[in-house]
Amino acid sequence: MVRKPVTLITGASGEVGFGLIERFAERGDSDIVALDLNELPDEHRAMCAGAITGDILDQNLLERLISEYEIHAIYHLAALLSTRSEFTPDTAHRVNVEGTLNLIRLAHEQARWHGNPVRFLFPSSIAVYGLPDLATKRRAGRIRESEWNLPTTMYGCNKCYCEQLGRYYSEHFRQLSAEATSSGVDFRSVRFPGLISAVTIPSGGTSDYAAEMIHAAARGEAYECFVGEEARIPFMVMPDGIKALLQLAEAPVECLSQRVYNVTSFSLSAGELREYVRKAFPNAEICFKPDGKRAAIIDTWPADVDDTLATRDWEWRPDFDVKRAFDEYLVPTISRQYQV
Ligand code: SER
Repeated sequence: MVRKPVTLITGASGEVGFGLIERFAERGDSDIVALDLNELPDEHRAMCAGAITGDILDQNLLERLISEYEIHAIYHLAALLSTRSEFTPDTAHRVNVEGTLNLIRLAHEQARWHGNPVRFLFPSSIAVYGLPDLATKRRAGRIRESEWNLPTTMYGCNKCYCEQLGRYYSEHFRQLSAEATSSGVDFRSVRFPGLISAVTIPSGGTSDYAAEMIHAAARGEAYECFVGEEARIPFMVMPDGIKALLQLAEAPVECLSQRVYNVTSFSLSAGELREYVRKAFPNAEICFKPDGKRAAIIDTWPADVDDTLATRDWEWRPDFDVKRAFDEYLVPTISRQYQV
């Protein structure tokens, strides 16, 4: 029996998953197997070779998967985001860490079967950083990958550890065995800033206020922002997020000086964000009513990150600065979506 060679996408029904499946389809690549707890909508299902509804913690399901498909690359997007993870830290650990280990093991097994490295793309996050107070955050400015890796959230801890797991499997796997052995897992990760999509609203994250504010304005609904006007983190629009994942996946391994890279597009305070939204939707009603504890999480995340290494190693450059993001992507796409 010949198994079909495919790319596996977990968390395929999430907003990054949709964007990725659509981009693969645009390139004429339909050798995709999508996995998610929630059923994939028909429109996206039609773009894939297979769509499976199930849990990354279900070993039987993963085994059934490899009996049918030969997996050459994995985009492991499934995760519980930062706010949700605070409410259910044990589940977050199971999904975010044990789930990731299951997928890394699967990549290792697959590489042994077909003899080629399996590229493992992992979205990490600015949540891996933890600045102790606002004065330090202001002083720190654009921070590099190795700085301030002291997350305060369960999600941030989970992502931080999985980055290390990936590095271990790629570079130090079974280092004490008699024969030098490679795991066959080629792990690569981008630390995303807050991602903003014009077509979907995220759920369970802490940077969600940006997307919520823009979508509410386009729908003509009032929005109460759960962080204060001064709260500042970096952002990126979804097409650039997808571009970063694909560009890192395609980079020759010898160009990579590390396994985990910052990527970013623009840094905005929530107040500045409101100004951009009001320019596009002058009637938008937006007020700030900080939720102390949730807003405090944003205060621990950097105001900006330094993505020089991604630019140097794999020529990373976002297509959208803030002006282009609003004028050419967010506003036209969102307006079309809510037109009755
Ligand atoms: N957007 C994510 C969150 O807010 C951070 O990576 O949880």
